[in-house]
Amino acid sequence: MSVRHRRTIVGAVLAALLASGASAAPAATPGVGAPGAGDPYFPLAGNRGYDVQHYDLTLDYTPPRAGADRLTGRLDAVAKIRMVPTRRLTRFNLDLRGLRARSVRVDGRPARFRQVGDHELVITPIASMRPWKWHTVVVRYGGATGRPKDVEGALYGWVTTRDGAIVVNEPDGAPTWFPVNDTPKDKATYRFEVTVPQGLSVAANGLLKSRRTHHGRTTWVWDAPDQMASYLATATIGDFRMRRSTVAGDLPVIDFLDRDLPAEDRSRSRATLALTGEMVTFFEERFGPYPFVAYGSTVDDDSVGYALETQTRSVFSKVASESTAAHELAHQWMGNRVGPRRWSDIWLNEGWAEYSSWLWTESRGGTTSQEAFDEVLAIPADDDFWTTVVSDPGRDDLFADAVYERGAATLHALRHRLGDAQFFQLAKSWIGAYGGQAVTTEQFRRLAEAVSGQDLDAFFDTWLDAPVKPASR
Ligand code: TRP
Ligand code: ZN
Repeated sequence: MSVRHRRTIVGAVLAALLASGASAAPAATPGVGAPGAGDPYFPLAGNRGYDVQHYDLTLDYTPPRAGADRLTGRLDAVAKIRMVPTRRLTRFNLDLRGLRARSVRVDGRPARFRQVGDHELVITPIASMRPWKWHTVVVRYGGATGRPKDVEGALYGWVTTRDGAIVVNEPDGAPTWFPVNDTPKDKATYRFEVTVPQGLSVAANGLLKSRRTHHGRTTWVWDAPDQMASYLATATIGDFRMRRSTVAGDLPVIDFLDRDLPAEDRSRSRATLALTGEMVTFFEERFGPYPFVAYGSTVDDDSVGYALETQTRSVFSKVASESTAAHELAHQWMGNRVGPRRWSDIWLNEGWAEYSSWLWTESRGGTTSQEAFDEVLAIPADDDFWTTVVSDPGRDDLFADAVYERGAATLHALRHRLGDAQFFQLAKSWIGAYGGQAVTTEQFRRLAEAVSGQDLDAFFDTWLDAPVKPASR
């Protein structure tokens, strides 16, 4: 956690106190960490009053019995969480959903706890916690795993599969497998120690530290030393074939491919994954050095039906197509290294990732970015597509087509307005200036104006804020 990041947390708490009632989240009361981080789309996600530095998750998982007709697994776990209160705390919350907390210790001493509703784990330590000091919270928890769904009805979180679990948390699915301050504002480092039946593989974030088998169960230890938002954590489990390589100089890559996929899908994915090195180099030239310790792709069966840019280890359903692989890889810079502060700013992730995929496709001799832009602008003005406000699409339209396609078109139009030199300087400055932080659209607009020396208010208002089709330039 950087000092800068810490200041933003304090800022958020102060803002909440000053503007009490102004935000959709419950206001914080003195000494008690509020049960929400202030996101209008997800009022209960995240909490206030502390900042997590590190999650050390020890998970013991048993997938469904072979041939079982109900997809439910068994999770027994311990989360060791290192945190810093941003004020003296007599009580605080973690987000935990669908699993039971069995015991909680704070700084080595048993703490009182209760689970409120199906989302909040409320913890009352014996002694109040001193601000700006490290504290350790240990939660023992577990239960039956299922197949959770997000607000749009898509599978997410810890999704139990026939032979393991596909773990993709965006936007608020992390609490379905660990107690967490589930806000993209609070990035932390992670360690995962996951024990599964021998023969299964665990694909978590970061670097594989060790693997050992004991009495028919294998423990996989993963270390993720880069700051990471909770929605980007994964520990996907399955009958995978692991492949390690090194690309773009010295970047370690660890890929996992489901053995049960049709041969055709596997060979298509393998062909895509063979391009990882070239893709990394392509985006490094445009966005700056690859920002994390490792990369890799996990291709699981199609149980969730979409891909996610889980940090350092993107997850794909059924097949990794070239354009999707480029999209998820670009997210490592655009979304992961620099991420949104509020979910309403999701276009900063998706617009950039989609535009990156346009650029990659063009470089391979496919559809040019201009052609892709023209296709978006060919959508008739009375189409519903244009009614989405890209800078605030609404909770239920977080992943609407317009967030991706109009978001990408916005960047293409901006590139046309700024010229290539300034546009790519902006991309690099965006990562350079805000790397490791949680940002807003307003910050992007200001940086674009600073880099170009132009007043871009009318441009951005038209492209991002208006629920109507921009006039063709
Ligand atoms: N996977 C999407 C991406 O990489 C984002 C996403 C998360 C999503 N959950 C979803 C898309 C549910 C559709 C449905 O951009
Ligand atoms: Zn995306």
